[in-house]
Parts: sequence; C-alpha cells; structure tokens
Amino acid sequence: MTSPVSFSKRGAIGIVNVNNQPVNALSQAVRQGIQDCVNEGAADAAVTAIIIIGEGRTYMAGADITEFGKPPMDPSLHAVIETIEDTKKPVISAIHGTALGGGLETALACHYRCAVASAKVGLPEVNLGILPGAGGTQRLPRLVGVEKALDMMTTGKPIGAKEALAQGVIDHIVDGDLLDGAVAYAEQVVAEGKPLVRVQDLEDKVAPARGNDDIYENYRKSVARRTRGFFAPDQIIDCVKDAVNLPFAEGLKMERERFVKCMTSPQAAGLMYAFFTERAANKIPDIPRDTPLRDLNKVGIIGCGTMGGGIAMNFASAGIPVTILEMSEEALDRGLGIIKGNYAATVKKGRLSQDRMDAAMGNITGTSNYEDLSDVDMVIEAVFEEMDVKHKVFARLDEVCKPGTILATNTSGLDVNEIADGTSRPGDVVGLHFFSPANVMRLLEVVRGAKTEKDVLATVMKMTKSIGKIGVMVGVCEGFVGNRMLGPYLREANFLIEEGATPAQVDAAVFNLGLAMGPFTMSDLAGNDVGWRIRKGKAGERRNDVRYSDVGDRICEQGWFGQKTKRGWYIYEEGSRTPKPDPEVEAIIRQSAKENGIAQRDISDQEIIERCFYSMVNEGAKILEEGMAIRASDIDVIWLNGYGFPSYRGGPMMWGDTEGLANVVDRLKHYQAEHPGPFWEISPLLIRLASEGKTFADYDKE
Ligand code: 3HC
Ligand code: NAI
Repeated sequence: MTSPVSFSKRGAIGIVNVNNQPVNALSQAVRQGIQDCVNEGAADAAVTAIIIIGEGRTYMAGADITEFGKPPMDPSLHAVIETIEDTKKPVISAIHGTALGGGLETALACHYRCAVASAKVGLPEVNLGILPGAGGTQRLPRLVGVEKALDMMTTGKPIGAKEALAQGVIDHIVDGDLLDGAVAYAEQVVAEGKPLVRVQDLEDKVAPARGNDDIYENYRKSVARRTRGFFAPDQIIDCVKDAVNLPFAEGLKMERERFVKCMTSPQAAGLMYAFFTERAANKIPDIPRDTPLRDLNKVGIIGCGTMGGGIAMNFASAGIPVTILEMSEEALDRGLGIIKGNYAATVKKGRLSQDRMDAAMGNITGTSNYEDLSDVDMVIEAVFEEMDVKHKVFARLDEVCKPGTILATNTSGLDVNEIADGTSRPGDVVGLHFFSPANVMRLLEVVRGAKTEKDVLATVMKMTKSIGKIGVMVGVCEGFVGNRMLGPYLREANFLIEEGATPAQVDAAVFNLGLAMGPFTMSDLAGNDVGWRIRKGKAGERRNDVRYSDVGDRICEQGWFGQKTKRGWYIYEEGSRTPKPDPEVEAIIRQSAKENGIAQRDISDQEIIERCFYSMVNEGAKILEEGMAIRASDIDVIWLNGYGFPSYRGGPMMWGDTEGLANVVDRLKHYQAEHPGPFWEISPLLIRLASEGKTFADYDKE
C-alpha cells in the first residue's frame, strides 16, 4: 500500500508531504509516514532542515476521529511527536487551512512554525468531549501563557495566523506560495544557525503563574455558565495547572490520564456523534453528490420583518447580493434600519469590522417593485403567516421570476405543497425554515415538497453550508420536525403544572437535564402572547373530549406576557431578567385545576423528565416512520442546533437510546394507562425497535 506521506527534497531542505485528504487527519498510516519521512530526512546528510506540509485544502486537522474507540495502532501520535522534537535538524511546520487538534500538536513539536496569513490554528478537542491528548495542554501554555491557553482550549475556537504570530504560536507568516515561503524560511533558519527550540523547555510564559493556584478557581467560576454540564473543560483547566506547576514529563502523564477519562466518558460519545451526524445530515440518499447545481448568485427576499431581515443578513454577510421587497417604503425603511442596527451592534462589540459591515450593507438593495426580482436565482418569502398572502406573493413571483429560479418559503406552519401547487412550477418550490434570530441560529430545516426537484434540494443543501448554516432535510408535516416535537414537550409541561408541579420545578428539572432553560422561562422570554393568539385562532378546532390546559390563557388574560411585561409565568423585578416564582400564578394554576377536576399531587423530577422527553422521543419515532426525517440522527441535529438540547447527550433520539428504548416504551405504556386518549399512542416503530432490543442508531443503519 502506498503511504499517504512522501519525502522529497528542494535543495538541502527535506519536505514531508502529508496527503490524506480531505483534511489530512492523522490516521495510523499518516503517523507512520511522518515518522518514517522525518527519520529519512534526519538520516540524509545532504538535508539541513525538514518541512512538514499538508496537501490539498489544509494542514492536518487533527487525530483521525474514526479511529477513536478502536484498539490503538503504533506509532502513537506521542511517539511521532517525540521523533520530531528530538530530531537534531530544524523541523518546521508549514501551515495552511487549519492546524487543529493533533495537527497543531504535531506543529507544536516542531522547532519552528510558519503559516500563510489565511491559516487558522486551534485545539478544538473540547468540542468532541475530550482534551488535547498529544501534549497540547502542556505545550500551548508554554507558548501563549495560562489565560490564553485556557481560553483556546476550553472554547475550542481557533485563532488566525496574525494573532497566532502575536501570541507566539507561530514564528513567521509567509506571503505568496506556502512551500516556496517555507523553504526560504527554513534556509534562513539554517543560515542564521537558529537553535532547535523545544517548546517543552520554554519557561517564560508559565513561570509567573507558578504557585498562584487562584487563577484556576477564578477561571472555573468565570466560565461556569458556558461550560455547565460539560466534563472536559474542568479536566483541561487541571492540565494547564499541571503544565505550570509540574515538570513537563509529569504534566504529560497527567494529561494522558485525563485524556483517557474524557475519552471513555459518555459525553465524548455524544459529542463525537454530534460531529459526524451534523455532516451526515447534508447527505441525501436519493440525491447523488454530483447532481448539477443551479446558480445561486443573487437572492430575493419578500418581507423585511423579523425573519426576512435576518435571512437577508446571512446572504449579505456571505457576499451574495440580496434584493428585499416590502409592501411600502415605510416598512422597507424600518426593516433596513433594523438590519443596519444589528450589524452596528456587532461592530460595537468588536465582532465585526466596519469595513465588513459596509460591504454587507452594500450587498442589500430594497424595492417595492416585483420586476426587480426578474433576474434573481432564488427568492425566499417571509411575509405574514397567512395562506392567502403567501398565494398572492407566489403568484407574482411566478409571473416575474426567470425560469429555474428557486422559490422558497419560510413558513413555519403552512402546507408547502399547497403553496407550491398555487404556482405553475411546483418543482422549483421548497421550504426553508429558518429559526429566529435568523442571522444567528445555525439550524435550517429544508422542507422537501412532494414535487420539489432534486437539483433544487441539492442546491439549497449546498447553500446552507455556504451561509454558515446546518441544513437538515425534513418533510411536509405540521410543525416540520423541530416544532412538531416541541408539541408534546410543551403539552406535558402544562399538564404537569395542573397536576401539582410548579413552573419552577418543571423548569429546574429540564435545566438539570442540560437545556439552557425550561419551557416556562423560555415562554416568558419569547412572549406568552404569541402562542395565545395562535390558540385563540384555533379555538374552534378544539375537541371537547381531548384534554386542554387553559392555564397559559388565564395568565395571558391578565396581560402577563412574560419578561416584556415584567410578569408572565414568573415575576421579574425592575431591571432584572431573573424569574421569581409568583404566588398569584400558582393560585391561578390551582384554581384552573380545581375547575377542571384535576387532582393535585406531589410530582417527582423523574416524572417531569419522562413525560416531557419520552413523549418527545415517541413523536420523533412517529416522524421517522412517516418519513418526515431521513435519520434519527437528523432529528438530533435539529434539536442540538435549534432548541439547545445539550450536545453532550447527542440529541433526544440518542438520549432515548441511552435511556433504553424498552424502558421508554414501558414508561410510555404506564402514562398511556394513566392518561387515556390520543396523546400517548405509542409509535409502532418505537415498539418494534424496543422489542428487537435495538436503538435508533441501529435504525439509521437499517
Ligand atoms: N478525523 C476524521 N475525519 C474527519 C476529521 C477528523 N479529525 N475532520 C474532518 N473529518 C471528515 C468529516 O467527517 C468529513 O467527512 P465526510 O466528507 O465523509 O462527511 C470530511 O472530513 C470533511 O470535513 P468537513 O465537512 O467538516 O469539512 P470542512 O472543510 O467544512 O471543515 C474542518 C474542515 C474545519 C477541519 C472540520 O472538519 C473540523 O473541524 N474537523 C475536526 C477537527 C478536530 O476536531 N480536530 C481534533 C480531533 S481530536 C484530536 O486531534 C485528539 C488529539 O488531541 C490527540
Ligand atoms: P413579521 O411580521 O415580523 O414580518 C413580515 C413582514 O412581511 C412585514 O415586514 C410585512 O410588512 C411584510 N409583508 C407582509 N405581506 C407582504 C407582502 N404581500 N409583500 C411584501 N411584504 C409583505 O413576521 P416574521 O416573524 O418575520 O414571519 C415571517 C414568516 O416567517 C412567517 O411565515 C412566519 O411563520 C415565519 N417564521 C417566523 C419565525 C419567528 O420566530 N418569527 C420563525 C420561523 C418562521
């Protein structure tokens, strides 16, 4: 078998070329290849220095994650790193793309590092539930100091080459061709007789922190909110403390022990699952990868309200010109003003340069004339949620748009097929369900209509990535996937308070499972009046024989819409966003229960979790059996990225697997017996998987 790593020479400079595309992950063959090639360069008397460089779009992006959990294969990354660091000639990393995880750790073992200006370097292991396990926790603090190392490793965020140079992670930025620049740099290192710097020997950045252990406790407190529930960040902080206080070899030993602890924790399994499933979601079984794509150079948006404005920002920021159509000049001015304000706020926070804001705003044009949309490649409609209005908009688009324009709707609840059938080109119509705020939330449900053409779907799935979103394909059903599963969760939360739990108890149980907030805190934040208005509109459809909780309506009738009115499910003191339990709300709940003949009792947290989330898992199974999601893992991607389900649990379906599907079915049967009626009908798919001793992960492989 040919090695993915080759050795060649440019004059007296040896070049170790890693070619394991797409991301040059450090598989066993790559590790072996690097070790052999570095040794070859070291043994060649004509070679004065050695460069390690990656082929294709990037330097090495880390260990090969697909090897995790399998028996270790020699040489270990540690051994390769030792070989590099102990080489008696300068070894220099030449970085482009991203040097991440084990890739950066390999670079840190080199005596010098150079990079192109567009390169990024980082240690993102924390995102996989692990820590940098090949010396990264010990070497990085020796280069950048304690605080910066902690930030880089507990957030996992990479830094750009310019900052990396300023911080001392790299030593030189190459202009122009990387290999040419790296060879020149290597020749300079040799000519100047620069020392063989071993990062492990550096002291300057860590010595001042020695003995000052308050740093770590203070840091833990400062990141407690961000890292709540996660296992690896604490372990990383401990490793940095050891990097400062222990000799290198001992620190390395502790790093290895903690790495194994992280790797064998259920969190690593959940987070690695999240990494791969996010990428799997982009693959659609019946749409070949080489499907010819439609052009997407210019986009139109209809409606510049909450969603339209945010959607437009995604394209404008990605450099794609957008034309936004509104009903009136006034509405347009208001909408464009909000977009400008949003960009300006980001500039003020230092997260966007003024130049980039100006460029993005320059990509946006407003209009009230449909003729201006005659040349766009895609239109996304985000007008009021009324079928009549949508039909009128699509009829106009049908008239003015050129053949082949993709016609997308951002509807959150209307039938995409009905919208499509109102046009002469239903094959061009697709749902693009963005989440609010649309310029921030990464999730995008791509709604496949009955007649949507495959090339339309392939084009929009590709587009999701280019505007920084995670696209997941779903079918046409009420609420699509995410909001449909929210249904049973919210329903049970409301029933539970009627039966005796308090909003605070329900919220605490959900918070403790790892979600950012529970349903009542969330509703107060979003505004209770939104759902109330929808419920009032649907009051005529309500069946008398199906249980309905009217507590939320009673709260809204008081004018208690949530944080914006200082009262909702909770009470908020002036200037505070902290929810405080409200005895008057609790009295309203008791009164409602009494009037509806519901006995109140003590409710355990376990029951809260089972009723809120097992019902959700059951709904997920129904979604799968109806073909509304392609994979259970797609449902998990939706819940991690759109609803704040804790990523270390993988998502609700993976969590269902870990709870045990047979157990889930048993408990669903229990609640079905306690609460007869349609709500607890159990999915036949779920029953089948449970009876066969299978999981949703097995289902995805079927
Ligand atoms: N191992 C194995 N496969 C990997 C991989 C890795 N480290 N990184 C990416 N891949 C795969 C992806 O699964 C994907 O496969 P697919 O085409 O079959 O779906 C393919 O490479 C391309 O990846 P992306 O679609 O993500 O490509 P992008 O260009 O969008 O992004 C990237 C590139 C920024 C490198 C991104 O892939 C990434 O962030 N990768 C993970 C980096 C990482 O976490 N590194 C640390 C690994 S752990 C480690 O090093 C432990 C060490 O400390 C001992
Ligand atoms: P919004 O009320 O904030 O904005 C709608 C905008 O459309 C208004 O500015 C209005 O002037 C404009 N508009 C109405 N009719 C028009 C027409 N015929 N031509 C041109 N412009 C017209 O509403 P929002 O919240 O932005 O919702 C828009 C759509 O997005 C709805 O279908 C909604 O269901 C959906 N959606 C909303 C989400 C949310 O959280 N707000 C989330 C996901 C989808």
